[in-house]
Amino acid sequence: MSEPVFLRACRGQSVEHVPVWFMRQAGRSLPEYRALRGTGSILEAIADPALAAEITLQPVRRYGVDAAILFSDIVVPYHAIGFGVDVVPGRGPVIERPFATRADLARLRELSDADVIHVSETVRLVVAELARNDVPLIGFAGAPFTVASYLVEGAPTRVFGVVKSMMHADPALFDALMERLVHISIGFLRRQVAAGARAVQLFDSWAGALTRDEYQRFALEPTRRVLAGVADLGVPTILFGVGTGELLDLMASSGPDVMGIDWHVDLDAGRRRVGRPVQGNLDPARCLGGPAGAVEAAREVLARAGHEAGHIFNLGHGVLPQTDPASLEAVVRVVHDEGLAGVS
Ligand code: CP3
Repeated sequence: MSEPVFLRACRGQSVEHVPVWFMRQAGRSLPEYRALRGTGSILEAIADPALAAEITLQPVRRYGVDAAILFSDIVVPYHAIGFGVDVVPGRGPVIERPFATRADLARLRELSDADVIHVSETVRLVVAELARNDVPLIGFAGAPFTVASYLVEGAPTRVFGVVKSMMHADPALFDALMERLVHISIGFLRRQVAAGARAVQLFDSWAGALTRDEYQRFALEPTRRVLAGVADLGVPTILFGVGTGELLDLMASSGPDVMGIDWHVDLDAGRRRVGRPVQGNLDPARCLGGPAGAVEAAREVLARAGHEAGHIFNLGHGVLPQTDPASLEAVVRVVHDEGLAGVS
């Protein structure tokens, strides 16, 4: 039996239909998610394998997407090792005592199996359920720079002033921090794959805050090392960030099988910059005007994707909470019916 279309597209192979899934598909845009989630911290929901597995499966059932993404978060391993992380609704990760000095390196020990046993258990539950329809599960981790930005800034930022100050004022300390994050990310991804994840995505969501020089000096090598640290597992790797148009060639040189392209870059231009399969890149905002508008926007992406094998349809960033699920249902349908990339 051949592999699922999502995995084949990641490898640049031909497919029966163009695969599609949505970043943040498991989340607040789904009424069934809001009903299940209640009001506790997302970290509590993630710590409950039966609940986290059910939330992971909800969008697969509703949308018929070609891959599931684990219901988890990029800060989960740091919460697990006791770094002191909370995720504040409507805001994002907040750190009790941000990373500031050499002494803080000791707070970033390597992961053990026990630290993330709940995540491994969620993966096993999801994979057992998805096996019926042979839908692959994508595991994920935060890329070192994006995680560093949270740990150093202490809260979501648009400026990145604290983390950039550390980078430039004490590059040795910043490198040492990134080194710890490389090991933790590798440990987190390897455990998800060991439990049954069939692809992994590295979210470098905020890499677009860096200049080319900064990316090259501080982020490229740690990212490359995370990807190299899972290469022996044989699962496709995807690297994604937002506002990364000027960095795409550098990011691709870190070695992912697939590059995520955000909506600021035309998909065909992005593909030329990265020279490998691409994932993306429908503007999430264009899914807010109802199904007809979303379908029109999806057709524009499909036109840019053309016929060449190696396109995984996705949004250019996560599903916005206000999105009507009917719009995403319509997008899945048009991608499956009309996408031509690699369809023989
Ligand atoms: O379908 C999925 O993609 C769900 C799994 C998922 C979550 N977080 C669940 C979540 C994934 C892949 C993430 C990754 C993540 N977390 C990233 C990278 C992806 C991206 O969007 O760039 C980042 C930067 C984070 C950090 C984080 N966690 C943020 C910025 C927020 C949003 C805060 C808010 O409420 O607006 C979170 C919380 C979070 N993680 C939610 C979900 C569904 C929403 C809060 C909730 O439902 O309680």
